[in-house]
Amino acid sequence: MTHVRVVGFGMGPHHLTGEAVAALDASDYAIAVRKGPDDELLEVRRRICAAHDVELVEIPDPIRDRDDPADYPTAVRTWHDARVDAFATELVARGGTAAFLVWGDPSLYDSMLRVVEGLAARGDLAGLTWDVVPGISAPQLLAARHRMVLHPVGAPVHVTAARRLPEALAQGQRNVLVMLGSDRELDALEPLGAWQLWWGANLGAPGEQLVAGRVAEVLDDVRRARQAARSVDGWVMDTYLLRAAEEEAR
Ligand SMILES: C[S@@+](CC[C@H](N)C(=O)[O-])C[C@H]1O[C@@H](n2cnc3c(N)ncnc32)[C@H](O)[C@@H]1O
Repeated sequence: MTHVRVVGFGMGPHHLTGEAVAALDASDYAIAVRKGPDDELLEVRRRICAAHDVELVEIPDPIRDRDDPADYPTAVRTWHDARVDAFATELVARGGTAAFLVWGDPSLYDSMLRVVEGLAARGDLAGLTWDVVPGISAPQLLAARHRMVLHPVGAPVHVTAARRLPEALAQGQRNVLVMLGSDRELDALEPLGAWQLWWGANLGAPGEQLVAGRVAEVLDDVRRARQAARSVDGWVMDTYLLRAAEEEAR
């Protein structure tokens, strides 16, 4: 009988919940992909497993085709299938209880649960069971750092990827939480000068950066802060909330 525990570990070892620690303690081993020699996020998983005396089985990440955005869904599916094959090989050979450590929370922009569903659909892993342990997500940490509620009273918050922000604005969204952005996509904020921005990068890491204010007044600060985060941690990830001025009065 093979069991998988999908464990969210927040933005680092200091965010491990009691439930996550118990899940790790009850696991025979953990599995993670290795993206290259300088995989900082793998390093975090190594530290967590070492601290909890869990063996970490490292699997080289299958190559992902990023060159053809027109066929993005197919490229992602192919990459998921290759990961499923690699994980299945380990799970079939080892059995027992395996932990998959997920950055943040597994419910938000993470493919691990789809990968596990793919594993369970295989004949060689028939009977596979799995459960999920939640972790602190980047939006939760952003809200905590800015000491804010993510939506005006009784209003929605629309969560989207930066590349889809123009679409969200065209739909009339006025309170938008943006993830998966890059330096380039910050240019899309320029027309939103009067909107309020609450921005955070590398939340929970040594290079953590926070900026808040009207877009027109703080966008250059955000660009500088992205560089500062990268120079401290060697990587940068940001999450931000954009709110139209008229929404603030609600
Ligand atoms: C693949 S998604 C993973 C999200 C994660 N599962 C969660 O619950 O937050 C990666 C995106 O999450 C956000 N993110 C992850 N870690 C972050 C951090 N430490 N600070 C700010 N944003 C972060 C960024 O928008 C980044 O592009």
